[in-house]
Order: sequence, then structure tokens, then C-alpha cells
Amino acid sequence: MSVVEADLLVKDCLLVPMDGRGSVSGAYLAVRDGRVIHADRPKGLAFRAEEAIDGRGKAVLPGFINCHTHAPMTLLRGLAEDVPLEAWLREHIWPVEAKMGPSEVYRGALLACLEMALTGTTCFCDMYFHEGQVAEAALKSGLRAVLAPGIFDAPGPEVGERMFEDALRVFERYHGAGDGRIKVVLGPHAPYTCSRELLERIRDKARELGTGIHIHLAETEGEVKDCLARHGKTPVEYLAELGLLRPGTTAAHCVHLTDQDIALLAEAGVGIAHCPVANAKLGVGVARVPEMLTAGLAVGLGTDGPASNNALDMLETVKFACLLQKAAKRDPTVLTARQALEMATIGGARALGLADQVGSLEPGKKADFIILDLRKASTTPLHDIYAALVYSARSGAVEAVFVDGQPVVLEGQHVKLDAEEVLREAAEAAEELLKRAA
Ligand code: NI
Repeated sequence: MSVVEADLLVKDCLLVPMDGRGSVSGAYLAVRDGRVIHADRPKGLAFRAEEAIDGRGKAVLPGFINCHTHAPMTLLRGLAEDVPLEAWLREHIWPVEAKMGPSEVYRGALLACLEMALTGTTCFCDMYFHEGQVAEAALKSGLRAVLAPGIFDAPGPEVGERMFEDALRVFERYHGAGDGRIKVVLGPHAPYTCSRELLERIRDKARELGTGIHIHLAETEGEVKDCLARHGKTPVEYLAELGLLRPGTTAAHCVHLTDQDIALLAEAGVGIAHCPVANAKLGVGVARVPEMLTAGLAVGLGTDGPASNNALDMLETVKFACLLQKAAKRDPTVLTARQALEMATIGGARALGLADQVGSLEPGKKADFIILDLRKASTTPLHDIYAALVYSARSGAVEAVFVDGQPVVLEGQHVKLDAEEVLREAAEAAEELLKRAA
């Protein structure tokens, strides 16, 4: 009998691998050197492991991938509620953000990393300024991250220049950090906050660096109208003309798309970060997710920033994604629980260009996975694991979180961060910030 030598083994679990197979009961997940080496029933193999976890009553699945957020905005959540996006940004968020320094960005990001890990997220894509501080928070908390230092020049070319230079410094310093856990891409904020010249410069620099682009796109009807008035094109057509749509580009929101826009995005191989909770909360509309999936687009899920959600909880987002489509289409058959869970895992990995590394549990992939306790009132009885995870499980069921095979959360507690300290320091930073902004 051949023996599988592992560093870590989860025995006898309900495996939800998200690799095209359905769920596998009585499965063993074996990890060596940070990678999955077995994710299936034992099949006659014997296992020897440094550490073993009893998986009975537990679901094991790939960690959630949050494809779009602004982690430091935890400090601003609850600050301005129930107002339209434009007013929310211009009157409430931007004036306070202008006062945010590196230490506040760090504390806000660390709080976000704590919340994301405890709710089962192993990888997040972020756009903000002082993004090096978000990298530090991701490294300290053990999460994987795609970081997009934000760049815009709406306030003037000197602002664009400074942000562009900052982004290059963050790329230099952090791209590939943490044994490859950190990937740095360029983050032009949106077509309406960046000049054509800046967008072209970012396009060329991203090509030169061999990295991707993360951008907000077609979030509101107003954005589309303005773009049509200014350029005679939809935002998608405009970016296509500028050559920003290509594999490696991830576009957040994409709420207001024409059929032609969807075809252009699919043809270009752009990844989509769908943010249903933020879209609904800000009243901007419902993205055409079923149409995007039919067109073959890689669609992942994002929470968007915690100031417009206000949580960073992917189990909540995955449920809401399903319900929103069913309500909007008046059709309970659109976007099934399994499709939505795919978006939260392997779909997100595809949207971020990480599908060769994470997003599903199969031999060779990085061991980014979570363990959920199914012995809860909300997941009993267990007739359908996808329905249980998407419609009735709560993030309190997340028991353990591993990234690169390393524990980040065990027994529901973060093992790398002192949670009380993170909460206290974030609350203090938020208070200081508001005093200065007043
Ligand atoms: Ni956003």
C-alpha cells in the first residue's frame, strides 16, 4: 500500500472542491509544502501527516476570493448612510479620506483582514492609496492579496503623477512578497476620474511590468451617460478603444452594460468583480450576471469597500448575489447556489488571473482552504451542500482558514493577529480621523 506523506491532513470531511466535481463525502485533503497533494476519497492510499484534523461533520472548500474591496474603508463604515453614490463620495467620503495617513490606512486594512479571515476569505483584491500599508496588513494577517494602488488625475495632473509614482513604488517593493502571496497590479480608479493620457500611460506601464489592471467600470447610469456625451462611447467601448481591455484586467461592478459591451468584455478576456451588496445599497442597479456568465466571462464576487456594504462577509455576498438576480429577473432558476459559490471561489480566481494557483482544491494548487462546521442549527439537516453553504450557513460556522497550507484561523480565532488590539487600534484611528476631518 502506498503512503502519502503530508504536512497537514483533513480526514473524513465533506469536500466541496469547486473543480467541476460535485461534493465528495469521506474525503481526505492532504497538503505538503503549502500545496494540495490529494483531495478525494482515500482510494486505498495510506496517509501519514505531521498534523491531522478530524473532518467529520465539517465541509472543506476553497477559501473565498473577494474580488473587489477598499480594505482601509473599514474606518469609514457607517459614516454616511442612505445617500446617493455621487453625494456619498463627494460630500462624505472624499473629505475624510483626504485626511487619512499611512497609519490609518494600515489600521483600517488590518481590521479588514481580520474580518475577512474570520469569515472565510483567503484572498482579496484591493484598491486604495497608501496601498503599501494594505500590503503590510495582508502580510501580517497571512492573507493572499491582489493590490491595486489607486491612481486618478481628476483633481489635476500633479495628483495623477504622484499616485502613478506611488503605484510604481508599491509594485517594486511588494509584487511577489510573502512567498508570492502579494500580487501588485495598477489601479486606475475609473474611466471618469482618469484622463485619456493617464489611462494610456497606465496601460503601457502595466504591459511593461507584465502585470494586470484593476478598474471600476460602468457602475452607474450617470457614468454611462457622461461617457456617451463626452466620448460618444459607452465606458466599455471607451476602454476597449484605449486598449485597456485585455486578459489581466479586472473590472469592478459592470452594472450597466449593453449586449455589445458584454461581447467586448468576453472577447477581451476581462475578469469581472460583481459587487451585488454595494450595488444594491447605493441603488445603482442590478448587474446582468446571467448574461455575463452565458457570454463566458469570468465573474467573481466582491464586497466592495466596507463603507458601502458595510460588511466584508463573502457568505452574505454569495447569498445576496443569488437573491438579487432571482428577484430582478422574477425567476427562481437564475443563478443557482452552486453557480454563485463558483463565483465566490474559482470564478473569482479566474477573474483575478489566479486560477492556476487557487480557487479550487485539486492536486498542485496552493492550499488555500476553509473548514466550516456543519453541525449547526442552520445547516441541519444537510440535503444539499450548495444550498446549505449559500442560503443558510452563517460565517460563524467558519472554524479554520488556511493560506498556503498555513493556519490563519483556528477554532474560529485568528492565530496571527491579536483581535482585541486590532479592534481597539482601528476604533481609535477612526476617532482621530474624524476629529481631524471635522
Ligand atoms: Ni469600489
